[in-house]
Amino acid sequence: MPSQNKPLHILGIGGSMKANSTSLWALERALKAAQATGAMTELLASRDLNLPIYSPSQSFTELDTNTKRFLNAVRKADAFIWSTPAYHGTIAGVVKNALDFIEFLSDDPRPYIHNKVVGLIATAGGDLAAVNAINAMVHVTHAIRGIPAPLLVAIPQAWKVFDKQGKILEEKWAGRLDQLGQLVVEMATKFQPAEEPQKTRS
Ligand SMILES: Cc1cc2nc3c(=O)[nH]c(=O)nc-3n(C[C@H](O)[C@H](O)[C@H](O)COP(=O)(O)O)c2cc1C
Repeated sequence: MPSQNKPLHILGIGGSMKANSTSLWALERALKAAQATGAMTELLASRDLNLPIYSPSQSFTELDTNTKRFLNAVRKADAFIWSTPAYHGTIAGVVKNALDFIEFLSDDPRPYIHNKVVGLIATAGGDLAAVNAINAMVHVTHAIRGIPAPLLVAIPQAWKVFDKQGKILEEKWAGRLDQLGQLVVEMATKFQPAEEPQKTRS
C-alpha cells in the first residue's frame, strides 16, 4: 500500500501490435494526464510486452522473465488504464491475452486486482465496436475484482481522430482522455486499502 507521501503508481496496458496504434496513442494521452496530477505512470504497450499465449497448464515458475515482470508490474500498480483496439466487435486478442495472465495473481494476499481502479479506453474504425470492446473490458474488470472508472472512453472512427503522428485532431477526445487520467488518480486515492482483503472469487 502506498504511503501518504508516495505517488500512486498507474500502470497503462494495451495498444495494438501496429506501429501507429491509435489505442496506444489514446493510452499515452490519458497516462500523461494522470502523471500531471503527480502520479507515477508506467506504460506496458502490447507490442513491447511480447507475451506468449496464456496457458492455464503453465505454473508461475515456468513463465519467462518478461511475463513475470508483467505480473509484478500488475501487482505493484495502485490503478490501471487499459486500452484496446476493437477487433471483430470486441477486445483485441493481444490485450485480452495480457489480461488473462492476471489469473496468476488469483492466490495473492490481494487477489487479482482487488479494489484497484481501472480506466478504460477503446478505439475502433467504425461506430459501434469501441463501445462493445469497452463493455467487454468492464466485464473483465469486474471478473478480476477491479473497479471500472465510470468515465468510459470509447473512440469511434479513430482514423479521423488522430493524425499520422498521433496528434489528436478532435478536442473532445483529448479532453475525455485527460479527464479519464485525472479520474483514475482521484478514485485510486480514495480506494487505497485499509486492510488485507478476504480471498473470495467472483
Ligand atoms: C483484425 C481487425 C478487426 C477489426 N474489427 C473491427 C470491428 O469489428 N469494428 C470496427 O469498428 N473496427 C474494426 N477494426 C478497426 C480497428 O478497430 C481500428 O482500426 C482501430 O483504430 C485499431 O486500433 P489501433 O490503431 O490501436 O491498431 C478492426 C481492425 C482489425 C485489424
